Amino acid sequence: MALIIMVLLGLLACDAVGAATIYDTHYLLSNLTKDYNVNVRPAVEQLLPVNVSIQMYLKSIMEFDERQGTLSYTVGFEITWKDYRLMWNSYLYGGVWYLNVPLTMIWFPELLLSSPATSRSYITQSWSKARIYYDGFVLYVEGALIESTCEVNVKYYPFDVQSCNTSFISLGYTYKDVNLMWVKESIDITLYPGNSMWDLESTSVSVQTVATGGGQQEMFVTFNLRRKPGYAIVNVLLPILFLGILNAFVFLLIPESGERIGYCITTLLAIAVYMTIIMSSLPQSSDPTPLINYKLLIDLVYSALIIVAVILNMRLNGKDDDVPVPKILVSFYLALMCRACGGKPVRPASNGFTADQNATSSNESSSKLQESDIPDYSPVNSVDAQKVTWKKISSLLDISFFVLFVFLSFLIFVVFISILKSGS
Ligand SMILES: *[C@@H]1O[C@H](CO)[C@@H](O)[C@H](O)[C@H]1NC(C)=O
Ligand SMILES: *[C@@H]1O[C@H](CO)[C@@H](O)[C@H](O)[C@H]1NC(C)=O
Ligand SMILES: *[C@@H]1O[C@H](CO)[C@@H](O)[C@H](O)[C@H]1NC(C)=O
Repeated sequence: MALIIMVLLGLLACDAVGAATIYDTHYLLSNLTKDYNVNVRPAVEQLLPVNVSIQMYLKSIMEFDERQGTLSYTVGFEITWKDYRLMWNSYLYGGVWYLNVPLTMIWFPELLLSSPATSRSYITQSWSKARIYYDGFVLYVEGALIESTCEVNVKYYPFDVQSCNTSFISLGYTYKDVNLMWVKESIDITLYPGNSMWDLESTSVSVQTVATGGGQQEMFVTFNLRRKPGYAIVNVLLPILFLGILNAFVFLLIPESGERIGYCITTLLAIAVYMTIIMSSLPQSSDPTPLINYKLLIDLVYSALIIVAVILNMRLNGKDDDVPVPKILVSFYLALMCRACGGKPVRPASNGFTADQNATSSNESSSKLQESDIPDYSPVNSVDAQKVTWKKISSLLDISFFVLFVFLSFLIFVVFISILKSGS
């Protein structure tokens, strides 16, 4: 009630501002500062703390540097407290109901960022101005570019959520002297336009009294940021998936072209380049290691396995036909061929492929069959067994490897994405 009356009085006084002259402000200011000592805390009972309320307005998130572990953002502070020595009756001063004064002319709580990334950074600046009202209410607005340290956890990159704590202390005062209070439990984000790389999920504000420093109060401002994964998906994950699939196509290159090893090595190098790109943009942390590093390692191993498979298979392909094919390979070959044709002996004219077979595999098998010019594929008899040459085994292996590695590539990708999704 008293507050409402005061506000009404203030409004009335506001109406009378027209009557205020330069002398009113002059006398008011000299009367207010005549006996004022800026070093005395504005608490009538000096054993009680001064309540200082703080509200933060997030203006923008400039940068979140996961490599350095820093978060920088611009923010507006609205700091208010009450100073009983700065009260006056506005009627006596021509209706002047507020004044703007240099901050250093009055007592003020000094705020310091206690989690700085670069240098000591004071929030309160001595060259700023404060606005004082006739009822002793002091309003101080300050903008600041905060560069704070932040604990980074990129285990689930690019589906990671970062929780950044920035903290502030009121320099030189303990909780017995200055009581830091928050207007709201979160930062005001009405001025915040959004960030292109991070979604601001939530913010929270809390004040804790730490045991050290005789009961220093520390205000924690926590930003919960979720990475927008689009950039990493388009620029890293999908290209690597395509590279893996492309890599498997080496088995479709005809061995006589002599391009196989060159092709493999090029793809391997491309994956290594992606590895370098990822490593240069993520922190070099082993605790925890980003899962994407393991994924790239697996891709590298996958690529290396393809090279080994290609080399071994080319040895088979180049083997002299005089060297007899071991029985076990022959039966393996025939078993696979008959599996590809649905477990039934078939004549080349009527391809009895069953529908449940992998379409790519069967088509490729059939084309290879025709390519290698096998007249009759039906019964497993001694005559057919004789016809099994190293070249045929090699080309069958090519098809099998192709299907296997394409499947493996997709499998690695899907498993990796689902692990990331479930973890974040
Ligand atoms: C200034 O303050 C004194 C008392 O401290 C008071 O007598 C005087 O009236 C004040 N001046 C004005 C213009 O009200
Ligand atoms: C400061 O705030 C506390 C808690 O809201 C309140 O109990 C206390 O009366 C306030 N002190 C002053 C001087 O207003
Ligand atoms: C962030 O600050 C809160 C206090 O509000 C604390 O409980 C929490 O442990 C801090 N988190 C980190 C990562 O330091």
